[in-house]
Amino acid sequence: MSLLRMEEITKRFPGVVANDQVDLVLEEGEIHALLGENGSGKSTLMNMLYGIYRPDAGRILLRDKEVQFSSPTDAISAGIGMVHQHFMLVPTMTVTENVILGLKEQKGRWNPLLDTRGAEKRINALAEQYGLDIEPNARVWQLPVGAQQRVEILKSLYRNAEILVLDEPTAVLAPKEVEHLIEVLRNLARSGKSIIFISHKLNEVIQLADRVSVLRNGVLSGQVDVADATASQLAEMMVGRQVETPKKKPRKSGETILTTANLVVKDDRSLIAVDDLTFDLAKGEIFGVAGVDGNGQKELTEAIAGVRSIESGNLEISGLSKSRGKRFREIGHVTEDRHQTGVVLPFSLWENYALKVCGTPPYGNWLNMNTGVMQEQTRAAIDQFSIKATGPDVAMSTLSGGNQQKVVLARELALDPKLLLAAQPTRGLDVGAAEYVHERLLSARDSGMAIMLISTELEEVLALSDRIMVMYEGKSMGLVDASQASREMLGLMMAGVSLENIENGMSQ
Ligand SMILES: Nc1ncnc2c1ncn2[C@@H]1O[C@H](COP(=O)(O)OP(=O)(O)OP(=O)(O)O)[C@@H](O)[C@H]1O
Ligand SMILES: [Mg+2]
Repeated sequence: MSLLRMEEITKRFPGVVANDQVDLVLEEGEIHALLGENGSGKSTLMNMLYGIYRPDAGRILLRDKEVQFSSPTDAISAGIGMVHQHFMLVPTMTVTENVILGLKEQKGRWNPLLDTRGAEKRINALAEQYGLDIEPNARVWQLPVGAQQRVEILKSLYRNAEILVLDEPTAVLAPKEVEHLIEVLRNLARSGKSIIFISHKLNEVIQLADRVSVLRNGVLSGQVDVADATASQLAEMMVGRQVETPKKKPRKSGETILTTANLVVKDDRSLIAVDDLTFDLAKGEIFGVAGVDGNGQKELTEAIAGVRSIESGNLEISGLSKSRGKRFREIGHVTEDRHQTGVVLPFSLWENYALKVCGTPPYGNWLNMNTGVMQEQTRAAIDQFSIKATGPDVAMSTLSGGNQQKVVLARELALDPKLLLAAQPTRGLDVGAAEYVHERLLSARDSGMAIMLISTELEEVLALSDRIMVMYEGKSMGLVDASQASREMLGLMMAGVSLENIENGMSQ
């Protein structure tokens, strides 16, 4: 008897068959990875298991008994927990409060509102049991992403989840946090919990999963034991062809476009986020900024983009227009959090595309918007970036996570900016789409664009950059030529060891 069977599940949205007779079987204690290109139907399938959507056809069986969920509450009481890619915690509340939020039985005997003490005990016990490093009294907004994710996991465990679904859990994590999460998931599986996780990172899948199911265009295209698979085989199963690592041509020298000297920038809480940075960036160069999320990269890019003021030091951009409006369009900015600052979800694709380009010929001028051209161009972008959408008129909110990211990239590249600030450009993209974006960035560099690539992915930084700076607590741990850099070296610098110390250590 299998723990879970999803049988011939079909789900249609207007104009799309998101899932087409998909079968998925999960055994007790199994870690099952769900792979597939952007828009292949992974989130949709899991959303049905979690009661967010109802299948149009097919059955879900738990321990051979058919279940029907009409809301997540039903799924939770059947022992299913889900951690979404965008966390659903209340930032101003504590960890404990978030975990027990909405549970009736938490009313205390003496306090009719909340029995936080009893809850805290149980949270600590669960945290201990599964190696989840958590501080019950901390407020959620103060926690790094990795810890917030652990709170989400705890929330499910607290509700006695037997099956835990995680939608791209590692996309937002730093390498160290990924290791921690992998450890936690292994602990959970060892104690009999079953896990389904969605990921685009094939190495992780191979490291962690027992079995893999691959979706292609809504259809289950394969299921393999991980022991028999390699990363490149999985990639081929997903996209139907071999995926290559990008090839970088030698760099042509170009004039300097950005110079900073002793730059200091503060964050939203008025704490120093960028601490004494001095570097420059030239045309035709990809300048990689590596580092764990939250070490000042966001504040640095915002200062360069002109949306955050600088505290002291110098920041000079040459060769761009003086006018604010024009300059806004001469700098492309792919922000790290597309949901907060990248897109307007209820707007159509072409309107999202137009957000930046309207007012610039041929898209329009100071008076008129040429909506026909915008729609036309959006359609072209849909082709170029293989965006899975039925047309430029659909709402951004109906696109899968990775496809939303592609719209942002297409928009920011559309005006051929002189300077491109690209933060986590391939976050959430499948391997095929990431390969395409890498090629686009390299060819933009070869035709003279200056690109600052902010990424937590060492492979990406190493493959694309000409020079690499590693940021740690707002400071530069060192600047290296990409040809001289290695994964290990960058990893150490990301953990706060300066290049100087590494080199001294090596020469001893
Ligand atoms: N609420 C919705 N309305 C209309 N179409 C939708 C809706 N949700 C999903 N879709 C469509 O269903 C298809 C599958 O989307 P889904 O989000 O399941 O993909 P995914 O495999 O999770 O992709 P990604 O890796 O990019 O997250 C896509 O074509 C998407 O546009
Ligand atoms: Mg998804």
